Amino acid sequence: MVVRIGVPKETAPGERRVALVPEVVKRLVKSGVEIAIENGAGVSSGYPDASYSDAGAQVTSERGIIFRSNILLKVQAPTLEEIAQIPPGGVLVALMNMSRNLDRIRALRDGQVTVFALDLLPRITRAQSMDVLSSQATVAGYRAALIGAELCPKFFPMMMTAAGTIRPAKVLILGAGVAGLVAIATARRLGAVVEAYDVRRAAGEQVRSLGAKFLELQINAEGQGGYARELTDEEKRQEQAMLGQAIGNADVVITTANIPGRRAPLLVRTATVDGMRPGSVIVDLAAETGGNCELTQPGERIQYHDVTIAGPLNLPSSLPFHASEMFAKNLESFLGLLLSKDRSLVADYTDEILAASVLVAQGEVRHGPTRDAIGGTK
Ligand code: NAI
Repeated sequence: MVVRIGVPKETAPGERRVALVPEVVKRLVKSGVEIAIENGAGVSSGYPDASYSDAGAQVTSERGIIFRSNILLKVQAPTLEEIAQIPPGGVLVALMNMSRNLDRIRALRDGQVTVFALDLLPRITRAQSMDVLSSQATVAGYRAALIGAELCPKFFPMMMTAAGTIRPAKVLILGAGVAGLVAIATARRLGAVVEAYDVRRAAGEQVRSLGAKFLELQINAEGQGGYARELTDEEKRQEQAMLGQAIGNADVVITTANIPGRRAPLLVRTATVDGMRPGSVIVDLAAETGGNCELTQPGERIQYHDVTIAGPLNLPSSLPFHASEMFAKNLESFLGLLLSKDRSLVADYTDEILAASVLVAQGEVRHGPTRDAIGGTK
């Protein structure tokens, strides 16, 4: 039996990405799978229907055909209505955003759907080519630097003009993970003077290699799996004191700090914003997880005194062409594990990456924290 992969149009408000792009469809079809994609699924990211049919996909308006595929590929978690269309035994691969979608995970469990959550992919070398968190954070970091440049009343680069010499803008990046490093590189390319801070000391070398200055405390809060741990109260006090000064000197502050499974750390308090110069800008990429700035309003751009604070949501969707291309290539790589050489679905999930990312299988939630949040033994 030939495996069929279904790709529906994303339905989350404002979502412009699509899970597969024609280039990847072409390779998958050539490898021996069938692909059914919903009419218009790629239009808002710049991929017209004809480009999918040329690549060998079946383009259809019958959502039933898509949802009854052996494997369903999505960017965001399906709605309850969509889940009801997935037959028992179907396999779903998507970014599940578990803590916000417990009702949907319960429905997937009860519907005997197997779910791989791309959020759970381990950050190991072998999984790098599948790492949608990294690819989408790359987009977010780039866009954050551009938003900062757009809102800033100053040029980013130094300018030698007939009207005099303009000094470059100072950009401060808090959190130098994937998004932070791309924001640093983008702000540097635009000519700003960039400083960055992270609680993981290992980030220092990467920051410096991008031509930015690394601000360092006498702590190293590298926790499990290469992620940061939460700071102690004393460490938080030290952090606040150091950051207060650096934030006050910056024209643009881009914050990207996160701790997996927790509220984002509060790095920019109201009192610190009070000390910022008029016209300064904060772009808070952690708006989705509670915000790194106390004043951030998720999804809004606010004015506090003379400081602009932006809390953009779902930035990858604002650059949908390349965000989708990277997402699709990540999925292609993941499918390399989920499908065997003869292109049938693998029978077990013993591979380390599959084992880590399987969220629901055989009517059971396999991810401990999500199972606890849902309650019950299953
Ligand atoms: P993330 O989105 O969880 O957090 C962003 C950054 O915030 C991290 O660098 C973190 O250290 C920092 N942070 C947390 N608390 C902070 C605080 N109080 N002050 C300042 N900064 C704070 O992280 P992301 O970008 O997803 O990367 C997590 C780790 O995984 C990194 O070490 C990264 O290098 C590593 N990684 C490894 C990969 C692989 O080997 N396959 C792929 C991608 C990332």
